[in-house]
Amino acid sequence: MKILVLGSGAGGGFPQWNCNCRLCAGQRQGELSAHARTQSSIAVSADGESWVLLNASPDIGQQIRNHAQLHPRHGLRDTPIKAVVLMDAQIDHVTGLLGMREGPCIDVYATPCVFEDLTTVFPVLSVLEHYCGTHWHMLAVAGTQTSATFTIDGFASLRFTAVAIPGKAPPYSPHRREQTVGDNIALLIEDLDDGRRMFYSPGLAEVGEQELQWMSDADCLLVDGTFWAENEMQHAGLSQKTASDMGHLPQTGNATRIGMVDVMLATAARRKVLIHINNSNPILDEASEQRRVLDGHGIEVAYDGMEITL
Ligand code: MLT
Ligand code: MN
Ligand code: ZN
Repeated sequence: MKILVLGSGAGGGFPQWNCNCRLCAGQRQGELSAHARTQSSIAVSADGESWVLLNASPDIGQQIRNHAQLHPRHGLRDTPIKAVVLMDAQIDHVTGLLGMREGPCIDVYATPCVFEDLTTVFPVLSVLEHYCGTHWHMLAVAGTQTSATFTIDGFASLRFTAVAIPGKAPPYSPHRREQTVGDNIALLIEDLDDGRRMFYSPGLAEVGEQELQWMSDADCLLVDGTFWAENEMQHAGLSQKTASDMGHLPQTGNATRIGMVDVMLATAARRKVLIHINNSNPILDEASEQRRVLDGHGIEVAYDGMEITL
């Protein structure tokens, strides 16, 4: 299985357009050893020819331009992107669908909650009906059904499992205050040819027994790297919101909650990768103390253009 990181940043990307924090300003001025990052999306392929997008970022145009793997190849109009799987209905994960409107009808895989948000409060899919249209593939993660295995046409050797995870629905969702099964999923992808597995979860609010079980089955983890610390945005004077308010488990834990670093260390995954990095996270600075801690643990920080072959 091939994994291509298109966008490794959280909403806003890095540096964020309106942000003058130490990290954003430092990156812009070339004072930090830190790479710019576009907003959250990855692509997965079995053969390197056809690709499935996991989330569609507002930066999709730039991301496709930057990656030859996703350029048109055959005929006058073409795309190797055959389907899009959505983890949630957040702006940074779905707005890129609008950027695909010039192409063929889009095969979209999502839960009922996400389809609902995207046809009501944030009607991206309804708008697309006036352009390329979408084929809906419902992932049966709702109510008491907390996981669903599925396949995607043209990707016979990949088996996908959508897993309900703790998280937050978007601020505009009627579910924002009351978590509903299907608002947020993680994806476990298994290559049936060699048994290798990848676990993808760019937004993960908490890791309990269940989540740890799914993560332990993976050879490669690509998980929520949004925040280093619970109050990082408050400390930087950027926002009053905490990591928990936004549905993200920070890398550092406390007395009552294990952090993402220790979660990753509790798994046997060969590749442990943080993704969806917010512009406030000190790990963006490659010379930071926090980055040294990750290096010491063999934890990687995803970057745009990162390729992983499992
Ligand atoms: C989040 O995951 O919380 C987002 O990155 C927020 C956003 O897109 O503004
Ligand atoms: Mn996000
Ligand atoms: Zn910033």
